[in-house]
Amino acid sequence: MSERKIAPSLLAADFANLQRDIEMVNSSKADWFHIDVMDGVFVPNISFGMPVIKAIAKHAKKTLDVHLMIIEPDRYIQAFADLGADILTVHYEACTHLHRTLQAIKLAGMKAGVALNPHTNIAVLEDCITDIDLVCLMSVNPGFGGQSFIENTYSKVSALSKLIKDKKATTLIEIDGGVNDENAKQLVEAGAHILVAGSFVFKSTDPLKTIQQIKDLI
Ligand code: DX5
Ligand code: ZN
Repeated sequence: MSERKIAPSLLAADFANLQRDIEMVNSSKADWFHIDVMDGVFVPNISFGMPVIKAIAKHAKKTLDVHLMIIEPDRYIQAFADLGADILTVHYEACTHLHRTLQAIKLAGMKAGVALNPHTNIAVLEDCITDIDLVCLMSVNPGFGGQSFIENTYSKVSALSKLIKDKKATTLIEIDGGVNDENAKQLVEAGAHILVAGSFVFKSTDPLKTIQQIKDLI
């Protein structure tokens, strides 16, 4: 599967005008909604939880790509399935039994994603890559929007792309953090399929145009 998508991260949306921002994404060329869940333990920040996601799901008309930055994600797999998540991504660093977690996500009817922190080598996925629908490479340290893109990500994308090919897997590569018009093209050229963009989209003067701009680049 080779698709190039953009997934605006609602973390950078205006929470007092969430419905407005969701409708903007609905009417845009964006492909997915990226939804960041933080627990204040795995990452040093708390974002939002179930009631807010329930409200988002009511209005969002595109794929819900949920990124869990939480410890013990297994406890909430069914809850996120019930909320309407299409893709559920857990952190490699938060899972002791990653293989079991991936199977549980799929059993609950969702696509299974694994996120890697910037310091985590892609080699840790060698023995389970064929079980993973999506790998989210963190190009910032998770926890906050608006951080600077870590340049080492390019070589990780290439290495992951090679691993996926070598293992004949169909895994999609997603990049999350600091994505903008300066790195988007190089990221897809290195093998990325989905670009998450928070601040670059929502803090721009014309988010619709910004989404289009990135789509044109990729
Ligand atoms: C970071 C989150 C990202 C974040 C991206 O912990 O996982 O999804 O919202 O935001 P920007 O694009 O502003 O770096
Ligand atoms: Zn994210």
